[in-house]
Amino acid sequence: MTTFSFSSDSPRDVATGLLIVPVFQGPEPGPGVKETQLAESYSAARHTGKKGESLLVTRRADDRFAADAVLLVGVGKKDDFDVHAARRALGRAAETARRFGSVATTFASAFGVRDAKRAVQAAAEGLALGAYRFGRYKSESDGHALKKVVVLGSSRWDVKTMKAAADRGRIVSEAVGWARDLVNTPAGDLPPAEIAREAQAMAKQVGLTCKVWTEAQLKLGGFGGILGVGRGSVNPPRLIELTYTGAGKKTPIALTGKGISFDSGGLSIKDAKGMESMKIDMGGAASILATMRAIAQLKPKINVIAAIPSSENMPSGSAQKPGDVITHRGGKTSEVLNTDAEGRLVLADALAYLAEKKPSVIIDTATLTGACMIALGDRITGAMGNDAGLIRDVIAAGDLEGEPTWELPLHKDYRQLIDSSVADIKNIGERYGGAITAAWFLAEFVGDTPWVHLDIAGPAFSERGNELGPKGATGVPVRTLVRYVLDKAAG
Ligand code: BES
Ligand code: MN
Ligand code: ZN
Repeated sequence: MTTFSFSSDSPRDVATGLLIVPVFQGPEPGPGVKETQLAESYSAARHTGKKGESLLVTRRADDRFAADAVLLVGVGKKDDFDVHAARRALGRAAETARRFGSVATTFASAFGVRDAKRAVQAAAEGLALGAYRFGRYKSESDGHALKKVVVLGSSRWDVKTMKAAADRGRIVSEAVGWARDLVNTPAGDLPPAEIAREAQAMAKQVGLTCKVWTEAQLKLGGFGGILGVGRGSVNPPRLIELTYTGAGKKTPIALTGKGISFDSGGLSIKDAKGMESMKIDMGGAASILATMRAIAQLKPKINVIAAIPSSENMPSGSAQKPGDVITHRGGKTSEVLNTDAEGRLVLADALAYLAEKKPSVIIDTATLTGACMIALGDRITGAMGNDAGLIRDVIAAGDLEGEPTWELPLHKDYRQLIDSSVADIKNIGERYGGAITAAWFLAEFVGDTPWVHLDIAGPAFSERGNELGPKGATGVPVRTLVRYVLDKAAG
């Protein structure tokens, strides 16, 4: 557990293990550099403020600052420095911050009052997300952990607002960390029933309503997609329903996420390499669970419902077969020509179920297609949907949070690629445009509800690690979704 607070104390006086200070390239030093009188040490180390440079200075008897040490971090030219750059630079500094345990930073002080709230939140997030580690299966720990963070800022800023911003940074980062934990946990330890148990425990803790549909209940409810995908596994599927009520009887926002606890491909089986990382195939589900958790803690005045389908896609004597036809929730049929295109089958049921509830919008997120990864790489989420305004708002939320999202066209000409000769639709199109044909499949189940689909096959997982975390699950797009919901609640 890390505590976060805001303070307008002078960087010189703050008693902490490590004080983290930005240094700009150019004549003007960053906030905190003058106060600690370390400008000379920095340039004596032949540093210029370029991005990626850093200098760690420990306190000597005659030094004028209270921290045990100061980390000076080059952040490039002041004009190019923004909230995202601050979040990322602090994410990189988090490794050092973990060693000291208690840290303070002047990064937010580089911003004016207009960006102060976002800067304070981003500073908290950068440190918290960068300090994330997944230690559950390590027999030894390095003993390092981020325990206390103080975000420093101007005494002219409203203290209450800034404290709330630091706290929002904490809540969002804890939610992202939890999503990462769920995704990083091996599939062997987290089948659908366990994901559902995690959801129930979370719901109880933060005060959400949670209903878990069992396999028998899913049969009665006609959830043929969730059941069809789960048929080949000894671990039965689940549907997790969460409700947040922040605005009485108002129309809710609806969320869903792909929760394939493991994707072997089913009988259309993947090769060994393709299967290696497929414990991440519940990344969409994890990010929706985490979003609901953060929302429950941040308490916006809006209603949100989530229905998260979870199945395990395995080959066995009872598995669905290529050519099988299944009936989804609501009665639409689909021809399963490739059992590895399973995400859309479980999401179809959840989307149809959510559409029945007449929400204002539906947002789904899924590690849906390799094609989206080919198109956009591992940093950018693909967005497709039936409502230009909604797509624009979600992309804008992603931009504000530093989770880049890009629209792919849900072009009408590609709809016919999923026409089936035996059922209403089939579950694969052609080799090309695979992210779009997958979205067309989903579109069949939302009726005329405004809907956007976020394909996170790339950004859900970082092969090499990045500024905001180590190799493994990233927790994308939790920050985007929390921002979208909170901004929507604020009107
Ligand atoms: N879970 C995969 C998509 C995926 C691949 C996510 C790599 C993350 C990394 C999905 O279920 C899948 O297998 N999709 C197929 C669809 C195809 C059979 C139409 C794909 O993308 O190859
Ligand atoms: Mn698959
Ligand atoms: Zn999958």
